Amino acid sequence: MQRILTGIQCTGMPHLGNVLGAMLPILHLSTQPHHDTFIFLADLHTLTTVKDPVLRKTYVHVAATAWLALGLDPQKVTFYRQSQVPAVCELTWYLSCFAPYPMLANAHAFKDKTERLSTVNTGLFTYPILMAADILLYQADGVPVGKDQVQHLEITRDIAHSFNNQYGPTFCVPQAIIDTAIATVPGIDGQKMSKSYHNTIDIFAPEKELRKTIMRIQTDSKPIEEPKDPDQCIIFKLYSLLAEPTGVATMRQSYLAGGYGYGQAKEALFAVILYKFGAARERFNTYEKDLPAIESILQNGERKANVVATQTLAMVRERLGY
Ligand code: ADP
Ligand code: TRP
Repeated sequence: MQRILTGIQCTGMPHLGNVLGAMLPILHLSTQPHHDTFIFLADLHTLTTVKDPVLRKTYVHVAATAWLALGLDPQKVTFYRQSQVPAVCELTWYLSCFAPYPMLANAHAFKDKTERLSTVNTGLFTYPILMAADILLYQADGVPVGKDQVQHLEITRDIAHSFNNQYGPTFCVPQAIIDTAIATVPGIDGQKMSKSYHNTIDIFAPEKELRKTIMRIQTDSKPIEEPKDPDQCIIFKLYSLLAEPTGVATMRQSYLAGGYGYGQAKEALFAVILYKFGAARERFNTYEKDLPAIESILQNGERKANVVATQTLAMVRERLGY
C-alpha cells in the first residue's frame, strides 16, 4: 500500500483549472487499489491570506462540496480539514527547528508573494514548514502536486532527511508525483486560469451564469466566414481539454474551413461542460444544501487522520526527549 496525500488551499470556488489540473488527477489516483489516499482542505494555510472566519468557512464548505461532487469516495479516501488535526501545529514547530532559514528565504513562492503583496506576514514565510508537517505527520509516500509546489516538496524532503539523520528513521521521505501530461488550463483571457487573475470558469455555477462566462472568452475579431487558427484560440484549447477526440477533430476542421464563428464554438464548449460535468453539478447542488452530511463526512475523516497523526507525533516527541 502506498500512502498518497495532498491538500488544496481554500481560497474560493474551485475552478476548471483546479478541477482538471489537480482534483480529477488526484481522484483518479485514489481509485487505484494500492493507494491509501489522504486529501485535506488546507484551511490553516488559507489563514495566510483569508482573515474573515465566515468567508473562510464558506470557502472550506464549497471546496469540500466540490471534491465530493467530483467523486471523492469518503469510504476510500481520508478526507479532512487540516485545522481539525491540531498535531500538525505542534509538528510545525519541531520541524521549523530543522529548517535552515536561507532555505525558506529562497523559496520561489515566498519571493513571488513578497513582490506581489503589500503586507507579508510570517505565516507566508513559514508556509513550507506547515506543508512539510502536513505531509510528514501522515507518513505519506507520494504527494501529487503541480509544478509550482515542487520546491516545497524538496524542502519537506530536506527536513525529513535532516531529522532522520539525527534521530534515526522517523519520517517517510515523500516523493513528488508530478504528472507532466497535465496541461495548464487557460482562463477566459488566455492567461493561466487562476483566482488571482479573475479569469476563471466555475463549472458548478448555475447554467445562466456559466454560459455568460463562456460568452466572455476573448477572441480576435475575425468574421464568421473567414478561416481561423484553432491553435491560437482559447475556446478551442478549452474544448480540446474536455471533448472526445472526434469532436475536437471536427471543431478543428470547422475552424480551418471558415464559415464557423466563435459564437458557435462557445456554444459547443458550453454544451461539452454541461455534458462532462452534468452529474457532478447535480451532486454539487445536493451536497451544497446538506451541510450536516458534509460535516459528518469530514468529522469521520478527521477521526482517522487524528489516529495516524497522534502516532507520528508521539514518536517525534519521544525522539526529541519531550
Ligand atoms: P489559483 O491559481 O486559482 O489560486 P491554486 O494555486 O490554489 O489556484 O491551485 C491549486 C492547484 O490547482 C495547483 O497546485 C495546480 O496544480 C492546479 N491548478 C491551478 N490552476 C491551474 C490551471 N490553470 N491549469 C492547471 N492546473 C491548475
Ligand atoms: N501548498 C499547496 C498549494 O498551494 C497546498 C498544500 C498545503 C499542500 N499542504 C500541502 C499540497 C501538502 C500537498 C501536500 O497548492
